Amino acid sequence: MRLNLLTLFSSMTLSSILASAACTSNTTDTSGLQKLIHDGGAGYKLQLCAGQTYELSEQLNYTAMNQEISTEGYPTDGTRATLKMVGFNKTTAVMAQDPGLSGAKLMNIQINGNRLDNEDIYTAGGGNIEFGGQNQNQIIEYVKSYDPRGWSCLHLSEGTFNCLNITVQNNDIGPCGRDYFQNWADGISLSCADSLVQNNNIVDATDGGIVVFGAPSSTIKNNTISVKTRTMLGGINMVDVLPWLPEGNFSGTTVEGNTIHGGFATSMGDNSMGPNNASAIIKIGIAVGPNVWFSDGRYGTNKSTGAIIKDNVFSGAFAFGMGVSSAKDFTISNNSFTGNTSFIGTYGPNCTSSSKTPHEPTALLLEPSSIENLDLTLPSDSKFNFVNGTALGLTCFMPPAKDQNSWPYGDGFNSQPSSSSTTSGTGSSTTSPATTQSASGGDGKKSSAFKSISINGIFSSTIIAGILGAVFIIL
Ligand SMILES: *[C@@H]1O[C@H](CO)[C@@H](O)[C@H](O)[C@H]1NC(C)=O
Ligand SMILES: *[C@@H]1O[C@H](CO)[C@@H](O)[C@H](O)[C@H]1NC(C)=O
Ligand SMILES: *[C@@H]1O[C@H](CO)[C@@H](O)[C@H](O)[C@H]1NC(C)=O
Ligand SMILES: *[C@@H]1O[C@H](CO)[C@@H](O)[C@H](O)[C@H]1NC(C)=O
Ligand SMILES: *[C@@H]1O[C@H](CO)[C@@H](O)[C@H](O)[C@H]1NC(C)=O
Ligand SMILES: *[C@@H]1O[C@H](CO)[C@@H](O)[C@H](O)[C@H]1NC(C)=O
Ligand SMILES: *[C@@H]1O[C@H](CO)[C@@H](O)[C@H](O)[C@H]1NC(C)=O
Ligand SMILES: *[C@@H]1O[C@H](CO)[C@@H](O)[C@H](O)[C@H]1NC(C)=O
Ligand SMILES: *[C@@H]1O[C@H](CO)[C@@H](O)[C@H](O)[C@H]1NC(C)=O
Ligand SMILES: *[C@@H]1O[C@H](CO)[C@@H](O)[C@H](O)[C@H]1NC(C)=O
Ligand SMILES: *[C@@H]1O[C@H](CO)[C@@H](O)[C@H](O)[C@H]1NC(C)=O
Ligand SMILES: *[C@@H]1O[C@H](CO)[C@@H](O)[C@H](O)[C@H]1NC(C)=O
Repeated sequence: MRLNLLTLFSSMTLSSILASAACTSNTTDTSGLQKLIHDGGAGYKLQLCAGQTYELSEQLNYTAMNQEISTEGYPTDGTRATLKMVGFNKTTAVMAQDPGLSGAKLMNIQINGNRLDNEDIYTAGGGNIEFGGQNQNQIIEYVKSYDPRGWSCLHLSEGTFNCLNITVQNNDIGPCGRDYFQNWADGISLSCADSLVQNNNIVDATDGGIVVFGAPSSTIKNNTISVKTRTMLGGINMVDVLPWLPEGNFSGTTVEGNTIHGGFATSMGDNSMGPNNASAIIKIGIAVGPNVWFSDGRYGTNKSTGAIIKDNVFSGAFAFGMGVSSAKDFTISNNSFTGNTSFIGTYGPNCTSSSKTPHEPTALLLEPSSIENLDLTLPSDSKFNFVNGTALGLTCFMPPAKDQNSWPYGDGFNSQPSSSSTTSGTGSSTTSPATTQSASGGDGKKSSAFKSISINGIFSSTIIAGILGAVFIIL
């Protein structure tokens, strides 16, 4: 009897262990997956099988607190299960924005939005992943999200301005969107407050790599944003003054220690620059203030207000490393350029549609008449300084033709092992073309003292530091 009970007990234990460990295979269709989530209730974990692809006919909805969708064993590589959207006219694969979905987790899976090469963006519908809403403490980590049919690879919405504390970390994002007019998509679109976006790798988003919609008191740090096969409009955007109120509320939001890589040469050109087979640049590395983006004045005199931007590092080809306009109460410090850089692009047709023409490409552009109370400092050894000029609608610039020798070497191509000059950078061994639009080398990391530029009030700006030989035009 005792033996029988024991046997029964251990076989039950074994089967329950097996049942809880067994992943749900891709023979389960979308409504079957949805039923498991629904019936599982609060705390349910939908564990998908490694290496399998699940074709979704419509979005999967989280339905209760603390639910998780993940791959069994939590792999971080290409064996992560893939949710692939195949539904007609559907964009979003996973949705956790309804009230009551705090603590939702999306971990160690891949989301393939399945936008085909010849397909235009789906203008109705959401991003591949829609989290946030009226919830707190959600987590998205070790997820790869790419080829969204809609406007974002990963959208964290504000809800009714009560979304708090989403953690978005260690994700692989991109490609997202196409780089032709209004077919763009964001990498990460952050509109949830008090959130943490860190350690993500974002490649080939085409709108903003990370778009910060105010998201008050959020931290965006140690992300790497780069372009390989398509042009990105903005690396990190702080240009959307809505939806958080008062308009432009970025208070306490910190963008720090991110690495932003514009395009690099993909084959040999001349001594210092080469062509890029995708004609890929980042138009604005970090964009601050609505006017930098929107040339139509749609936000009037509203300003992006109250954020900190520090310790970010730029390398590669941009039109502008940073563009700052219509901003207030920002601290912008210790942002630096490393390796080789170039600031390139020609005036596109939409540069001339507004009343003002933007300044030509340059490393750091500031429009003094539209800013208020900026605390602006650069590393003391900064290769570049802010230049004054019109910073309106800077996405209008067009990258050079792909066969032009306009892209610097670096990021894997013709990048020398740094053993010979680890402390001085590569600039001394480089022949730069005789133009202020490009420079090589430079390593802002060693600095301890800073040049200081303080700007208090719209017309009482005092910019002390000189321009390092830059040729610029005041328009
Ligand atoms: C299950 O995933 C495998 C591996 O990706 C794939 O070959 C197969 O077609 C998928 N089956 C279904 C029913 O989607
Ligand atoms: C998820 O919710 C949406 C909106 O309510 C609904 O249209 C869709 O059918 C749901 N998904 C599934 C798999 O039931
Ligand atoms: C696609 O869905 C959107 C709403 O999500 C709808 O407005 C549109 O009409 C749909 N298009 C087609 C072709 O069914
Ligand atoms: C934020 O969310 C994370 C992840 O759920 C959690 O560990 C942390 O305690 C939350 N922080 C606060 C202040 O609630
Ligand atoms: C920065 O992010 C990378 C992943 O891109 C990670 O490997 C590294 O540990 C992070 N650094 C810190 C200090 O967290
Ligand atoms: C910005 O939004 C936060 C969160 O809603 C709020 O606490 C804060 O008061 C707002 N800032 C200003 C200046 O109103
Ligand atoms: C572009 O150049 C990169 C780097 O050399 C290479 O990996 C890639 O295959 C090239 N792409 C095309 C379409 O030639
Ligand atoms: C600020 O932006 C809002 C929303 O676009 C607009 O309604 C308002 O008129 C703007 N305010 C100013 C002072 O320009
Ligand atoms: C400046 O930024 C660089 C790059 O993020 C960092 O290594 C360095 O510690 C920062 N310097 C200071 C003084 O914070
Ligand atoms: C300029 O804007 C118009 C719409 O206003 C658009 O159709 C066109 O593609 C844009 N051109 C470029 C090069 O972005
Ligand atoms: C910068 O470009 C030069 C050629 O001009 C090249 O020798 C060097 O390796 C490049 N630096 C990096 C960090 O790739
Ligand atoms: C930039 O403009 C401000 C305000 O008009 C002025 O004080 C400052 O001297 C200018 N800086 C340069 C480098 O011209």
